[in-house]
Amino acid sequence: MAKEIVLTGVTTTGTPHLGNYVGAIQPAIEASQQESAESFFFLADYHALIKCHDPARVHESAQQVAATWLACGLDTSRVTFYRQSDIPEITELSWILTCMTAKGLMNRAHAYKAAVQDNLDDGDADPDRGIMMGLFSYPILMAADILMFNAQKVPVGKDQTQHLEMARDIAGKFNHVYGNTFNMPEAVVNESGMILKGLDGRKMSKSYDNTIPLFDTEKKFRKAINKIVTNSLEPGEPKDPDTCTVFELYSAFANEAEIAEMRQRYLDGIAWGEAKKITFEHLNEHLAPKREVYNELMSDPAMIDAELAKGAEKARQQAGAFLDKIRSKVGIKKFS
Ligand code: TRP
Repeated sequence: MAKEIVLTGVTTTGTPHLGNYVGAIQPAIEASQQESAESFFFLADYHALIKCHDPARVHESAQQVAATWLACGLDTSRVTFYRQSDIPEITELSWILTCMTAKGLMNRAHAYKAAVQDNLDDGDADPDRGIMMGLFSYPILMAADILMFNAQKVPVGKDQTQHLEMARDIAGKFNHVYGNTFNMPEAVVNESGMILKGLDGRKMSKSYDNTIPLFDTEKKFRKAINKIVTNSLEPGEPKDPDTCTVFELYSAFANEAEIAEMRQRYLDGIAWGEAKKITFEHLNEHLAPKREVYNELMSDPAMIDAELAKGAEKARQQAGAFLDKIRSKVGIKKFS
């Protein structure tokens, strides 16, 4: 049976945190181990330029994200793992698709509309003030990422499902004009996927500045867990596990028996200091070996480059051959 093509990308603008690990990295790595899937994972570094104009940050983040995926056990002999910018075919395809994309379709993109709304709310005379074409055209680049490898399943967050609809629209238009070329990709939104709360109790997210980095030093990791906001109940007073960020964090890394035991300790009035200490120790035990690999990779980036070069070679072989066909379909080819 033909394998199902699964593809997903990570925009490289931040430092991976616990929320990314539990919600995306771990489930994606697990899924990639299934025999039925052929997986493509990539660093969406050209997407990073949409949000971040700090070259040092763009560069550092890409290295951190790559090192994180490798340290967490991504098997690059099974998964094609590459950097978007190493595959120039993707940006070429992006232009071809741009010529198949209605401007009106892009006008309806959530991210663009939100930026326009911000301008209107500020009473700006120009609703497009400060909005770059990168933000406006971003769904086309994402469509190119996906269609370049004819992906069928695309695991993404809920906020990305509109982009998958747009990728299908664009693919459909191309197929209609030039003949059947692209699969219709589908979003896979992991509804049961865990969404962790951050230090302040809101969803853990870089935009709220409430994250716990996945691979900080052990000392900083302990400190971060101690900073999680709890209520003022004293030791001995029963506590509600179901509204507690610390309990949620512990649970994300624990088995059923461990969770049940911790739940009981909350009801018995565990002290916050104690709950945090147990949580730190439990998570640290799980993460320490991975942290060690991460640190090795960060201090020897040539190892990361070598992995990405392998992935790029595999990816370009496929992308190059497919792009030749696509170019030919639109009439861009040799004369003889
Ligand atoms: N836009 C995605 C995000 O912000 C990242 C991404 C870029 C992506 N290209 C992709 C995800 C292609 C899936 C497929 O999460």
